Amino acid sequence: MGDVMQAGKIIVALDFPDADTALALVSRLDPALCRLKVGKELFAAAGPDLVRTLAGRGFEIFLDLKFHDIPNTVAAACRTAAGLGVWMLNVHACGGRRMMEAARDALADLPHPPLLIAVTVLTSMSDADLAETGVTGTPADQVLRLAQLARACGLDGVVCSAREAEMLRARLGADFRLVTPGIRPAGADVADQRRVMTPVEALKAGATDLVIGRPITGAADPLAALQQIRFDIQNA
Ligand code: C5P
Repeated sequence: MGDVMQAGKIIVALDFPDADTALALVSRLDPALCRLKVGKELFAAAGPDLVRTLAGRGFEIFLDLKFHDIPNTVAAACRTAAGLGVWMLNVHACGGRRMMEAARDALADLPHPPLLIAVTVLTSMSDADLAETGVTGTPADQVLRLAQLARACGLDGVVCSAREAEMLRARLGADFRLVTPGIRPAGADVADQRRVMTPVEALKAGATDLVIGRPITGAADPLAALQQIRFDIQNA
């Protein structure tokens, strides 16, 4: 699993309400050992300045804002976000082909374009939730359909449940990133997550990048928690 660790450092989810709390945690991490995910809560609180600060400290940032709007708006948002120096960005695949292609094209001529990935079906959606939005067929069918569309639009990968990783890897081939949250080291508190997988299980299923929040951010020693996960992976 050593190669996987080189390709996909663990992405630590910074689910915090303000910049001070996030920075206190980040000061205990090491950019050589992890990347950081900034999502809607922290971005709403601390915005582009915090993203620039984190990037300036040497961290690669996954800006998890899940853009979904008309193609022109999403393209402009992606290009502006790329200007913050982020490593990865995402959009909702259900925005469709023209939206994803516009996002891809908006990044194409940048000197260091961020990776662009898509969200397929939110894992919080049940079969009934999905049916109520007019999607017929199973959630798994819809995940595969949207992942194939994202790939056809030239995106670099998708966010998915580790439970979907094996199926997507088999259907989409090797050269496509599968970014998986819902990861819990063996014995860790699952909190509100359901159907979790361990880091080693997720990587064996085909995940390339693991998003891990509270098992690291809530640990008494976050760096030690991160290093233990890396150790477990390297020795699997
Ligand atoms: O603390 P925890 O490891 O559960 O954090 C997981 C992170 O991944 C959170 O930022 C959560 O919003 C995000 N996420 C998720 N499940 C998804 C998509 C994103 O847990 N399907």
